[in-house]
Amino acid sequence: MDIYKFSLLCALLGGAILQLTVAQAKNCSNTCISTVRCSPYFKELVWTVEPSGCRVYQNACIFRNENCSRANQCLPPLVATTRMKCHQFCRRRCQRAGVKVCGWFPYSDSAGRYMSYPNRCLMDQFACQHAQAYVGEPTQGSCPINT
Ligand SMILES: *[C@@H]1O[C@H](CO)[C@@H](O)[C@H](O)[C@H]1NC(C)=O
Ligand SMILES: *[C@@H]1O[C@H](CO)[C@@H](O)[C@H](O)[C@H]1NC(C)=O
Repeated sequence: MDIYKFSLLCALLGGAILQLTVAQAKNCSNTCISTVRCSPYFKELVWTVEPSGCRVYQNACIFRNENCSRANQCLPPLVATTRMKCHQFCRRRCQRAGVKVCGWFPYSDSAGRYMSYPNRCLMDQFACQHAQAYVGEPTQGSCPINT
C-alpha cells in the first residue's frame, strides 16, 4: 500500500470513528414525537431500500411511524421509492439456517395471518417478492399454533 492510499484509509477510519463518537454522544430520543395509531389493514404499500435490502411497509402511516422511531434512534430517515426500483434490492442468497422468526401479515377485513420463516432474511425476501408487508417487528421462534 503506498503512502497516499494509507493516509486515505486513515482519514476514512478516522471519519468513521468520529461519526461513531458523535452518534453515541447524541441523544435523539425526543427528535420525533408521533402518537399516531395506524390501521394495519389499510393497504397502500410504501417501498424503501434499507441497508439490509428492499423493505415494504403496509401504508404511509406505518412508514412515517417507523421513520419517526428511526429518528429517535439517530438513524437516517427512510426514503420511499418505487416498487420497481426497490425490487432490485430484494434480499437474495439467504441461508437456510438462522433464527426462526414469526411475522404477522395483515389482510383486509380485519384478518391477518402469522407466518413462520427459517430466518429474517427469508421473511424479508418473501415480503419483497410477493409485495406483502408484515406489520410490527417479527418475533423469534416459530409462530404459535392456532394463530
Ligand atoms: C436521552 O434523554 C432522555 C430524556 O430526554 C432520557 O430519558 C434517556 O435516558 C436518554 N438516553 C440516553 C441514551 O442518554
Ligand atoms: C422522515 O424523517 C425525516 C426526519 O428524520 C423527515 O425529514 C422526513 O420528512 C420523514 N419522511 C417521512 C416520509 O415521514
